[in-house]
Amino acid sequence: MAVTQRIGVVGLGAMGSGIAQVAIEAGFDVVGREVADDLARAATERIGHFLTRKVEKGQRSPEERDAALARLSTTTDLGTLGDCDLVIEAVVEELEPKRALFSELEAICRADAVLATNTSALSVTEIAAATRSPERVVGMHFFNPAPLMPLVEVVRAELSSDEAVETALEVVERLGKVPVSCHDTPGFVVNRVLIPLLNDCVRVLDEARVTPESLDAAMTNGAGWPMGPCTLVDLVGIDVHVHASEALYEKLREPRMAPPPRLVAMRNAGLLGRKTGRGFYSYE
Ligand code: CAA
Repeated sequence: MAVTQRIGVVGLGAMGSGIAQVAIEAGFDVVGREVADDLARAATERIGHFLTRKVEKGQRSPEERDAALARLSTTTDLGTLGDCDLVIEAVVEELEPKRALFSELEAICRADAVLATNTSALSVTEIAAATRSPERVVGMHFFNPAPLMPLVEVVRAELSSDEAVETALEVVERLGKVPVSCHDTPGFVVNRVLIPLLNDCVRVLDEARVTPESLDAAMTNGAGWPMGPCTLVDLVGIDVHVHASEALYEKLREPRMAPPPRLVAMRNAGLLGRKTGRGFYSYE
């Protein structure tokens, strides 16, 4: 098994930039791909900001921050990822764009490179099926915010090879994260449980006639959650959560998986949570 040193990250939004940050901090060389220069610049600035906060808080030296940032390069050209040992995809959470991307990556990347998707609710097997080498495709599912959440689900699709899964597990260990290996089932482990739970939380808002503030207070103080469900859905993104709910409902047909109408209305109105400045709460 070749030693992984160079990681490509496709899509530098909240998840992709978080993954890139974790990887450069762990000593990997990272090439991040965005579709436009300004998006790539924004991601680099965001990573620089969080690393500088660590310096300010005495968790990193300025030299360590600078060395980590020097390991990050960005590009708008997918072809630049041709010499990566591992590519992690974190683009829009829709099946067809992901399938098209994997088909392109297959043509660009070395035959021994592992191709991973950070999908949270789509089928890794269906993404892998867009390639002629599905054995090298796995899921590497990070949690939001990626630099703070320890878990990475390493997902074995129907045709994933043992080598590809082992490479992903080894990289997760070197990232200092906690890997949990699982098979490619809808929602994997955490979202299979968390998505219906969060949907129940939103339904109880109307049923018990409580405010988001009260619900969050109930779940943090009564169930020990680190952040309340409304704060969490705002962080994840209302659109991302609704989409994941729809994807799980489509596959499992369990009523609790279906997105509550209240969330669908918020999504349709553009109240997407932190990223748009308004969701259950307002953010300045
Ligand atoms: N990226 C990088 N660094 C970040 C960051 C981010 N997005 N957000 C915060 N940080 C850094 C900041 O520098 C921050 O320090 P300063 O505020 O001093 O700058 C530092 O991390 C600590 O941040 P917090 O004080 O906010 O950290 P906390 O101790 O309050 O913990 C938390 C935050 C880890 C997010 C905690 O609230 C928590 O565990 N929440 C639950 C999150 C969760 O459940 N996530 C899963 C979502 S579901 C999902 O992701 C699945 C899916 O597929 C959709």
